[in-house]
Amino acid sequence: MDQYAIVTDNLVKKYGKNTAVNGIRLQVKKGEIFGLVGPDGTGKTTTIQMLCGIKTPNSGSATVAGVDAVRQAERLGGKIGYMSEGFSLYGTLTVGENIDFFADLYQVPAAVRRERKARLLQFSRLARFIDRPAEKLSGGMKKKLALCCTLIYSPEVLFLDEPTTGVDPVSRRDFWKIVYDFLSEGITIFVSTPYMDEAERCDRVAMMHQGRILNCDTPRGLKATLPGDLLAITARPPRQAASVLKGHGGYTHVQLFGEDLHLVVPDAAKEQAAIREYLENRGIIVAGIRRVEPSLEDIFVSAVAVPALDQGLPARVKQAADETGPGLQGATSEYAVEVTGMTKRFGSFTAVNEIGFKVRKGEIFGFLGPNGSGKSTTIRMLCGLLPPTAGRATVAGFDIARQAHLLRPHIGYMSQKFSLYNDLTAEENIDFYAGVYGLKGERRGRRKQWVLKMAGLTGRERVMARDLSGGWKQRLALGCAILHEPQVLFLDEPTSGVDPVARREFWDLIYELSSQGVTVFVTTHYMDEAEHCHTLGLIYYGNLIALGSPGGLKEQNLAGELLEVETPNPLAAMDYLGKEERFSHVALFGSTLHLLVDDVETVAPEVIGLLRQGGFEVRRAEKVPLTLEDLFVALIEAEDRRLAEGGKAS
Ligand SMILES: Nc1ncnc2c1ncn2[C@@H]1O[C@H](COP(=O)(O)OP(=O)(O)OP(=O)(O)O)[C@@H](O)[C@H]1O
Ligand SMILES: [Mg+2]
Repeated sequence: MDQYAIVTDNLVKKYGKNTAVNGIRLQVKKGEIFGLVGPDGTGKTTTIQMLCGIKTPNSGSATVAGVDAVRQAERLGGKIGYMSEGFSLYGTLTVGENIDFFADLYQVPAAVRRERKARLLQFSRLARFIDRPAEKLSGGMKKKLALCCTLIYSPEVLFLDEPTTGVDPVSRRDFWKIVYDFLSEGITIFVSTPYMDEAERCDRVAMMHQGRILNCDTPRGLKATLPGDLLAITARPPRQAASVLKGHGGYTHVQLFGEDLHLVVPDAAKEQAAIREYLENRGIIVAGIRRVEPSLEDIFVSAVAVPALDQGLPARVKQAADETGPGLQGATSEYAVEVTGMTKRFGSFTAVNEIGFKVRKGEIFGFLGPNGSGKSTTIRMLCGLLPPTAGRATVAGFDIARQAHLLRPHIGYMSQKFSLYNDLTAEENIDFYAGVYGLKGERRGRRKQWVLKMAGLTGRERVMARDLSGGWKQRLALGCAILHEPQVLFLDEPTSGVDPVARREFWDLIYELSSQGVTVFVTTHYMDEAEHCHTLGLIYYGNLIALGSPGGLKEQNLAGELLEVETPNPLAAMDYLGKEERFSHVALFGSTLHLLVDDVETVAPEVIGLLRQGGFEVRRAEKVPLTLEDLFVALIEAEDRRLAEGGKAS
């Protein structure tokens, strides 16, 4: 018993007729990082809340940090920490005051508090904003502040429910370094996450589905369950290639992964040539086909993607699209969005600094950038909701400052924290927005049916919005934003916190809309999604620092080759390698290390030798294609260096 921090037996939780958690058994060792993953609405939060003594199970038992979490929940108090999905900060208190408040609450000794607060502020890059009220932070900055408030004290067991949703890729890496620091203090960490690359970093992972644990093992153990070999195919155009392969019928688990297609085959060596031929005969260009090691995301997607959903969605969208007619066309100019020298200042603070770019009609424009860099502020200006301080922009041909009222009917906007009305049903939400957009008569009925069909909500019309799982909610929200057939659609982090399968479905919708001529302006912190955009803009501290196609940006900015190293203890290995001056840019990627080098062939043996010298096992070291995440991190770090040298970090 002593070696375990958490033991549960047959935990069950029902909400009315609905069984949210259906008899789960878990044993989490002390000092372990334990990950809980699963599709939206699968019972992860309910499980965590039962372990924290917040919800009482209908049956079963749970012991947490030696306390009976069911019958003696009040004794859990000082022993556990819990960061909920919707952790609430004090909006009028500043960043510093919020952290102090929680330090007081948990009676953190003064010396520990000073040291820790400084470290947390540094990792979260919030130090510069210590005096800013929490309500004026960007979405991701709020999330990071909530993390700081949770990590200021050290309980025996720390529960983190989706701690990094909406947090940018650079900060997510920093966050995991802090988590490892915590472990060295002997804390047990129980974390749920929609990011499979984070799950890879856990000691063990439980995969949950429909209230049950499907599988629980080390990431390596889970990956060994893939029924066959995994092939990665680089094909043009990728989406068409995916549907061609799905149409074949003989290949399972065909999924888009960043710019590649993944599929599972019984024997890679035997199938490779046949697959190439099959694709090429159907007009697809196959640029590469190779066997790859599965990632946890592959395992998740193949375990969770029900074939019905897999094939049903594109067909559903197509059908809905056919019924739409020409309504979504329109706009005459080549560009849907044109921005020049646009600036937004809040008092003396410049949130957006003289940015300029153009978005072609029907294009998917991905707007990327770390937390607080000015993405949402830009979107609010482009939607005519916030007047720019300087510069100008037109959207769908209308001037955003002078013609904001004319612009509205032509745009759709899904805000970062889109608030559907939770106490209204799916249908009532649609009705409400139909009213807002002034849809009447026959068109109103037609559009409503279209949205229900597109979102796959037919049959769920009367479900309360709060009872829809994350993926459905997002699609309903999208549906509400496009009820009035806008030409330009602004989506601010539409897939934050959405599971990998639902995210893919959501992007199928985005693609479908774009193919109908709708311009989509979207922000995301998922770099695999960014690969699907036609054009990307990268903004940092309010400045547009890169603009181009995903491929073009990689070519222009990343000279060299990428070396990927797999080792059982990546964080410690990263620390060790990073001490060598020439490898100081080593970065964590899933559970592997990434190094940008001139020539993999000469550098790989050096890295392997060095790691072995340090006592690290090296399972694999090879050249892999560059990803947008590597590019993103490289560009942000280069900009950080430039700012540090120039000494003008504001
Ligand atoms: N009303 C306001 N008053 C003062 N500062 C503000 C206000 N609104 C936003 N800011 C600041 O402007 C900056 C940009 O915020 P914005 O919400 O645009 O970031 P973002 O790129 O969308 O970030 P995230 O990825 O976290 O959503 C942040 O530093 C934020 O604190
Ligand atoms: Mg934002």
